[in-house]
Amino acid sequence: MATHTIAVFASGSGSNFEAIAEACRRGEIDARVALLVCDKPSAGVIARAERLGIETLVISPKDYSSREEYESVIADRLDACGAELVCLAGYMRLIGRVLLERYARRIVNIHPSLLPSFKGAHAIADAMAYGVKVYGVTIHYVDESLDGGEIISQRALDYDGTDEEELTSMIHSVEHKLYVETINKLINNR
Ligand code: GRF
Repeated sequence: MATHTIAVFASGSGSNFEAIAEACRRGEIDARVALLVCDKPSAGVIARAERLGIETLVISPKDYSSREEYESVIADRLDACGAELVCLAGYMRLIGRVLLERYARRIVNIHPSLLPSFKGAHAIADAMAYGVKVYGVTIHYVDESLDGGEIISQRALDYDGTDEEELTSMIHSVEHKLYVETINKLINNR
């Protein structure tokens, strides 16, 4: 039985979600993914969660009159499942006051660049268009800003090609490993 409990928020395909959930299942992370929160009913991550038997909250902000109300529903579900750590993994929304206050320093995000360079939703394409030769991944605490917040871990990778698909897949592999290692450090230091 795992010692710790984590939740993952995702809006997209969910490869990071799956890497985290599989690492938990294999016992490489001493935690259980108790909840997936997804704000996009059509996201691929939902099928991954079903396959892995992980409870999922699919919730659209447009069904609520304010961000506060939307986030309160999520926070109540996080409380109910006893989440100690919230891992954002391609969750395409800023986190607001309600979640930041109730889960202070317990929400982390992964971003596919060496922050503070290349913030935003197109980090890999932006870095490639700029012509960088060293790419990377950052995991950071979440605050109210876009891809801001204190950095927890980073990993660089060299790439000198022009194939964005190839680079994206290399970055994803780094992400999956770095997220597992970082979650381990975070839960074991609490
Ligand atoms: C990852 O590149 C992550 O860094 C970014 O969104 C992407 C999510 O990919 N925040 P996936 O859905 O985990 O495959």
